[in-house]
Amino acid sequence: MKVGLIFGTRPEAIKVAPVYHKLKNNGMDVKVVVTGQHKEMLYQVLDLFEITPDYDLQVMKQGQGLSELTGRLIIKLDEIIKKEKFDYILVQGDTTSVLAGALAGFYNQVPIGHIEAGLRTGNIYSPFPEEANRKLVGNIADAHFAPTDTNVNNLLKENYPKEKIIKCGNTVIDALYWVKKNKSSDIEKIKEKYNLLRKKYILITMHRRENWGKPMEETLTAVKNYLKEHEELYLVFPMHLNPLVRNVVHKVLDDFDRKILLEPLKYLEFIAVMDGAHYIMTDSGGVQEEAPSLGKPTLVLRDTTERPEAIAAGTAKLIGTKYENVMKYMKLLEGELYQEMSRANNPYGDGKTSERIREYLLKISERRIINKYF
Ligand code: UD1
Ligand code: UDP
Repeated sequence: MKVGLIFGTRPEAIKVAPVYHKLKNNGMDVKVVVTGQHKEMLYQVLDLFEITPDYDLQVMKQGQGLSELTGRLIIKLDEIIKKEKFDYILVQGDTTSVLAGALAGFYNQVPIGHIEAGLRTGNIYSPFPEEANRKLVGNIADAHFAPTDTNVNNLLKENYPKEKIIKCGNTVIDALYWVKKNKSSDIEKIKEKYNLLRKKYILITMHRRENWGKPMEETLTAVKNYLKEHEELYLVFPMHLNPLVRNVVHKVLDDFDRKILLEPLKYLEFIAVMDGAHYIMTDSGGVQEEAPSLGKPTLVLRDTTERPEAIAAGTAKLIGTKYENVMKYMKLLEGELYQEMSRANNPYGDGKTSERIREYLLKISERRIINKYF
């Protein structure tokens, strides 16, 4: 069975890396097609996980719009899918690369496996455009690799056939375990490199489209004003490369001293910086999944989340981006809430997700061989 693995952004690379190695190590014919939706942010992950793409479509342009990106991707992917004649295509998550990969595969009648399926907020505009992307991909997918019971139930409610939904955990935990096992000796060195070893700091990341502009400005202003009253605390912000994100960060934080603004961190470095944080504030999807495993209280800077499991487990709170609410929760974390939210908990997987995906592919490939003979 020849499998095409199509992906293009930082979080997808992190989450497909364990699947790639699992399939390759077990003798499966896997071709890696990176769309290049991200460039620097993608390649650091490929280096860490030692993945050499078979194709890189290099579509990244500064400030690229969704329609143009989607259009260019479908045309380029179509050529490769026609040439390679994949038996199966795997995509992961909810980005434009995922939608384009799945659609180009579908137009060529190649079955699609959707990794991280069934995440829903119920609001098509939040996150934008990701909620639409994952629903659209679900409609044309052959198999739905759903991380949790909640995700399985979301898919059942949308009438997807039970036998096509595979509850398997999230590959992000496979990736996290791999890093901890193979690279953990580097973690203290990294904290030292960024001068964070003896600092008490809050780690922040923000990049979502619906937070561009005012919501981000309001949140960061609240954080800055809170920190002005708490001299022991620092703020660490590894900034997404998007200029729209960076402009707001600089606008609000340039006149504040106790901040450490960083370039996007390599995955291993980011894990180390998460590990050392007092707590985390984020609008990222992946960070919401990783933080509970590290026992880090997480304030989710969004109005909706497709990842309610961490909230149910008690490690995360959905607080939005409004000034008063951000202030309120930062103050609450001075008290008992902090201990309550610090209990390490991992609702997203057991590190064996890639193996379950492999087993499914093996099963269907065996069935196909049998079908050939009878
Ligand atoms: C994309 C995904 C989002 C995901 C995020 C992960 C879509 C619509 N959005 O958002 O779901 O959460 O990736 O980070 O697919 N840039 C660089 N170098 C890079 C990467 C980005 O310079 O390596 C800059 C470019 O100016 C680019 C901009 O960031 O135009 C935005 O990148 P884009 O992929 O369009 O969207 P993200 O906000 O990264
Ligand atoms: N991450 C990273 N470096 C950073 C910030 C995040 O390697 O500077 C990792 C993080 O550990 C997580 C993933 O990138 O696995 C999340 O990516 P992002 O927040 O860009 O996208 P999302 O998950 O929101 O789609």
